[in-house]
This record gives sequence, structure tokens and C-alpha cells, in this order.
Amino acid sequence: MSTIGLLGTGNVAKVLGAKLILLGHEVVLGSRDPENSPVAEWAAGHGAGLTGLAEAAAGADLVVNTAPGLASLDVLTKAGAENLRGKVIIDVSNGIESRNGVTAVATPDGGSIAEQLQSAFPEARVVKTLNTMAGQVMVDPGRIPGHHTVFLSGDDPAAKAEVTELLKSFGWSDTQILDIGGVVTARATEAALLLFIHLFNTFGSPEFNLSVAKA
Ligand SMILES: NC(=O)c1ccc[n+]([C@@H]2O[C@H](COP(=O)([O-])OP(=O)(O)OC[C@H]3O[C@@H](n4cnc5c(N)ncnc54)[C@H](OP(=O)(O)O)[C@@H]3O)[C@@H](O)[C@H]2O)c1
Repeated sequence: MSTIGLLGTGNVAKVLGAKLILLGHEVVLGSRDPENSPVAEWAAGHGAGLTGLAEAAAGADLVVNTAPGLASLDVLTKAGAENLRGKVIIDVSNGIESRNGVTAVATPDGGSIAEQLQSAFPEARVVKTLNTMAGQVMVDPGRIPGHHTVFLSGDDPAAKAEVTELLKSFGWSDTQILDIGGVVTARATEAALLLFIHLFNTFGSPEFNLSVAKA
């Protein structure tokens, strides 16, 4: 069992945190302002730690970025390169913005948030995954019937193997886990946010996922 530092304390951090605790991991939430955090009660009730960003990263075997996409570089910078060195960073973030009143995917310099993080922290091992679905589906794939897919992007095969094991512990099967290549491929899954938003509006619910069918 590992100590897992979740950077960001919003909806996804709570969903992932609750599942990780259920699986026996130690969970520490990293906040910009742990003293005045609205999740203090939640953390105490679930047996999760709640600290600053640097402390959460320093004590973690594995780090998860659950900050908003465009805030992620700032959040990881506050967590500290020395606290991220050599560690797997699971990046579940997406970047979103409104352009002329229309929702758009926001990525740094036409690339992806995952690439930005990997490039800013070259000694960390960024794996983009789980960002193409709602939080509750991330940790409970069985709630969506039939075949559906979770993508993996990252440059470090050992890091992706480690994340694969974690995904399996959430209930994902080998046939559902699709490694699409290096961290550059996160551009594709981050862009899928736009499709997610329109599907959400179509269904009126986040209880769905994308499925890749292959001959
Ligand atoms: N919600 C979903 O189902 C879902 C699905 C797929 C991917 N994602 C992605 O996962 C990430 C987290 O989603 P979420 O729904 O958990 O978001 P959220 O509820 O808004 O939580 C994000 C957390 O990040 C921290 N944060 C750090 N810098 C921030 C800033 N500049 N502005 C706002 N918050 C900041 C905050 O924690 P502190 O205040 O404690 O620092 C905040 O609670 C996002 O990148 C999102 O696109 C979400």
C-alpha cells in the first residue's frame, strides 16, 4: 500500500481519495490553503491527511494532479520539483475556458497540460489518464455497462505499468486500458473534453464513457 498525495481538494480529489482509502492506501490532500479548507471535515471523516501542497508531495510515493488544467503548472511548482523528483504523477486534469461565450479546450501553447508538466518537471514521471470521464466512473468503471475505455499517455513505460496496476485495483480490466503512447498523445485525450461536454449536455448525465472498438 502506498501514500498518495492528491494535489487539489475538489470533487475529483474526494472521489479518488475515498476510493484509495477504501483500497488501503494512505491519502494526503494537498491544498493551497489547508488552514481554511472546505474539505477539512471531509478529510477528518475519511481519515485523509490535509496539508499544504509541498508537504503532500514530499510525503507521497505517488502524486495525483487534480487541479484545474491551467492552474496545474502553478500547483506543481508550489509542490516543489524536489518533492516530485522520480515520482509518478498521475495527471487527471483538463483545461477549459470560455471563448466568446463558447466552451473551449484550453491547453498551453497548442500542446497539452501533461506535456507542460513533464517538461517543467523532467525528473518526474507524468502519466495522463482518467481525464476523459466523470470522477465517479474513474473509480467505478462497472457502473457503465459494456466495453469502454481508459487511456494512458506517458513517456515512462514503468510509470505506466504502475498506473495500470492502480487502475486495475479500481476495477478496470486489461482490455479497457488503452496505452496510446508518449506524453504527446495527451493532446488527444485532453481535446476529448469538448466531446465529453457535448455528450454530457446530450445525456443530461455524466454516467457514460468513451469506448474504442478495434477489429
Ligand atoms: N469533475 C470531474 O468529473 C472531472 C473529470 C475528468 C477530469 N477532471 C479534471 O480534474 C481536475 C479536478 O476537477 P474537479 O472537478 O475536482 O475540480 P474542482 O472541484 O474545481 O477542484 C480543483 C481543486 O484544485 C485546487 N486548485 C489549485 N489551483 C486552483 C485554481 N487556480 N483555481 C481553482 N482551484 C485550484 C483547489 O483546491 P485547493 O483550494 O484546496 O487548493 C480545488 O479544490 C480538473 O482539471 C478537471 O478538469 C474533472
